[in-house]
Amino acid sequence: MKRDSLDSVIKSNDIDIIHLNDDHKDLFNYIARLNKIAKQPKDYDYAIIILERLISFFVEHVIKEELLLQKYLPAHVVKEHALLHQNELTQLDNSLHLLQTNLSSSNIHTVVAKLEREFTNHICRSDRKIMQDLIKSQKNMQHYH
Ligand SMILES: [Fe+2]
Ligand SMILES: [Fe+2]
Repeated sequence: MKRDSLDSVIKSNDIDIIHLNDDHKDLFNYIARLNKIAKQPKDYDYAIIILERLISFFVEHVIKEELLLQKYLPAHVVKEHALLHQNELTQLDNSLHLLQTNLSSSNIHTVVAKLEREFTNHICRSDRKIMQDLIKSQKNMQHYH
C-alpha cells in the first residue's frame, strides 16, 4: 500500500485523528532518517540515537491512539489493537538491542527493512481499518445525541 495514501486513509476533521495522522508521517520520517544513516558509515552512531527517539515517540503515539480508541470502540477491539502495539514495541526493543550489540551497515539495513515492513503494515492496514471504524462510531454517536 502506498504511503502517500496516508492522508486519504483517515480523512477527518477531528483534531485527535489529525494529530495521529501526523504522528504516522513522523514515524515514517524516522525510518527514512535511519535509512539515510545506513548509507553513511561515519554516522552509524546516530542510528542508535534515532532508534531510541523513534521508540519514545512510538510509545507516546500508541498511548494517544489507544486512549482515543477507548472513547469510541468496544474494549476487546482496543485490546486486540493494543496487542499489535505491544508486539511492535518488542520488535523495536529487539532492533535496538541488535544495533547496540553490533552496529554494522548490514544490521542497520536489516532493522530499516524490518521496521519499514512492520510500520507500513500496521499504519496502512491496521490503523487505517480501526480509524475507519472509529470515525463510523463517532458519526453514530453524533447522530444519537
Ligand atoms: Fe498508529
Ligand atoms: Fe495502531
